[in-house]
Amino acid sequence: MGKETVKPPKVVTVVNQKGGVGKTTTAINLASSLVSLGKKVVLVDFDPQGNASTGLGVGLEDRTLTSYDVLVDKCPLKDALVSCRQEGLWIVPSNSDLSSADLTLAGGKEKVTAFSSSLAEFLSDPKEADYIFVDCPPSLNLLTINALVASDSALVPLQPEFFALEGLSQLLLTIRDIRKVANESLRLEGVVLTMYDRRNNLTGQVEEDARKNLGQLVFETVIPRNVKLSEAPSYGEPILSYSPSSSGNKAYMMLAEEFLKRQGGLSD
Ligand SMILES: Nc1ncnc2c1ncn2[C@@H]1O[C@H](COP(=O)(O)OP(=O)(O)OP(=O)(O)O)[C@@H](O)[C@H]1O
Ligand SMILES: [Mg+2]
Repeated sequence: MGKETVKPPKVVTVVNQKGGVGKTTTAINLASSLVSLGKKVVLVDFDPQGNASTGLGVGLEDRTLTSYDVLVDKCPLKDALVSCRQEGLWIVPSNSDLSSADLTLAGGKEKVTAFSSSLAEFLSDPKEADYIFVDCPPSLNLLTINALVASDSALVPLQPEFFALEGLSQLLLTIRDIRKVANESLRLEGVVLTMYDRRNNLTGQVEEDARKNLGQLVFETVIPRNVKLSEAPSYGEPILSYSPSSSGNKAYMMLAEEFLKRQGGLSD
C-alpha cells in the first residue's frame, strides 16, 4: 500500500462467450476489492449492454466519452475515464453505440489490434493504474478478440452447470489461436467458479472436472450464489459498499487476495 507502482498496468480481460455467467459481477467486484487492498484499477466496459457502467453508478447522461470512442475513434483512454465513488477505481463506460463497433472494426485496418493500439499510450505510464479489467460481451466477436489481443491475461468466470465445460474448451482454443497469431504473451489468469451452490450435485461434478483438467488455473476461491450480489448493481454500488458483511463480499475479497498472491507465481 502506498508503494509507487513501477510496472505498467496489467490488462486482464474478463471473458466467457456464454451469457449471464457472472462476468460483469466479477469484473466490478474483483476490481473494487483490489482497490480496497490498495491497488488502482480501471474497468473498461466492452459490452454494449453497459452493465458494468450502470453497476458502478454511471448513468447514461454521464457516458459522454465511451469505450466506443476509445476503440473506434482513437480517443485517449485517459480522457474517457469516469471516477467511481470508491477512490482509486475508474471506469471507461459504454453504451449502445458499441454495438456497431464490431462491423466498423471488421471493415477497418486494425481489425483485431485497434484496442491494443488505443491502449498503448496509457500503458506507457506506469503510474496510471495497477490493473485494467475489460468486461466483455457474451460473444467471441471482434470486441472480445480486440480485448484479448490487448491483454496480458484472460480471467474466465464459469457458472458450474451443464455445458459449461464445452463452452470453456471453445474459449481456450480461441485463446490459443490468439496467442499464435496476434498476442503470444496472452495467458490464462484463471477460471473462477461463480454462482456456486454446494447443494447442487452438478456444481460438484463440474468443479471436479474443471479442477482435474485445469489444476491450479481454477481459483480455490469460489463465489457463492448470493442475492446481495444481484441487488448491488441497481444501487450503482459494488458489493463492498452495498453489503460488506455478505457472503458475496467476503468471497470477492478472498478472490482479490488470491489473485494478488498468484501474480507472478503461475502461468499456464
Ligand atoms: N454470485 C452471484 N449470486 C447471485 N446472483 C449473481 C451472482 N453473480 C451474478 N449474479 C446475477 O446473475 C446475473 C448475470 O450476472 P452477470 O451480469 O454478472 O453475468 P454476465 O456474464 O456479465 O452476463 P452477460 O453475458 O449478459 O454480460 C445478474 O443478474 C447478476 O446480478
Ligand atoms: Mg456482463
